[in-house]
Amino acid sequence: MATLPFVIGHRGAAAWAPENTLASIRAAAALGARWVEFDVRLSRDGFPVLFHDDDLNRTTNGSGPVADQDLEDLLTLDAGGWFGPAFRGEPVPTLEAAMGTLGRLRLGANIEIKPDVARVVETVVTTMEVINRDWPPELPPPLISSFQADALTAARTADPEAELALLVNDVPEDWRQRLHDLGCGALHCGARRLRRSQAAAVVAAGVPLRCYTVNRRGSAEKLAGWGVQSVFTDDPKELLPRATQAFGSSVSK
Ligand code: G3P
Ligand code: MG
Repeated sequence: MATLPFVIGHRGAAAWAPENTLASIRAAAALGARWVEFDVRLSRDGFPVLFHDDDLNRTTNGSGPVADQDLEDLLTLDAGGWFGPAFRGEPVPTLEAAMGTLGRLRLGANIEIKPDVARVVETVVTTMEVINRDWPPELPPPLISSFQADALTAARTADPEAELALLVNDVPEDWRQRLHDLGCGALHCGARRLRRSQAAAVVAAGVPLRCYTVNRRGSAEKLAGWGVQSVFTDDPKELLPRATQAFGSSVSK
């Protein structure tokens, strides 16, 4: 896979707009990001939607598990009002809608699959079917990632060509073996506990290393110095100051 840009908007641009909404994806683009990350899980009736948590409580006016709601009901929820009045009525986006927005904005994407334990294969296969059917041809292929090994195995089975990345909180001793076993070409890890020696080993192996969630310029510069290829940030403005001057007036925090 081609080298990704250093700045990847996290859940869109989660410091600027309600995470995992189309507004958040648009904010990331307006702030100068060229790639975004977002989370995908399934509605009860099997439609991939952008959503981080297992349940609706934190980021919508609904409650209970996402997996207990049909798409029709998810689409009635307000996924923006919790963030600020300017975003009231912002819906939970389908993956399909998000792909349309990515295409219009020319944004690449890392799709993080967050399957319920009982529906891992269904979540992966359905998500990849939607991608393979409707991914905007002008964009680079999406990068699929997951914390769950069985999701990555299902993704590899569903599409031998897919670009996959293993997500971990901490870089495990056996990272090389795990990447190999899961057919992953990149490692995505938590930034906070990453040690310089671990980064050096991954980078020396020629494996792209990307870190979440990095919202401070100083941390980003340190990681860049360690050879980290990209950081996932809630705040592209903090890490892309020149873009801010150009685009900042069209987006307010
Ligand atoms: O994909 C990077 C990052 O999003 C992983 O953690 O919990 O923010 O989805 P989380
Ligand atoms: Mg994520």
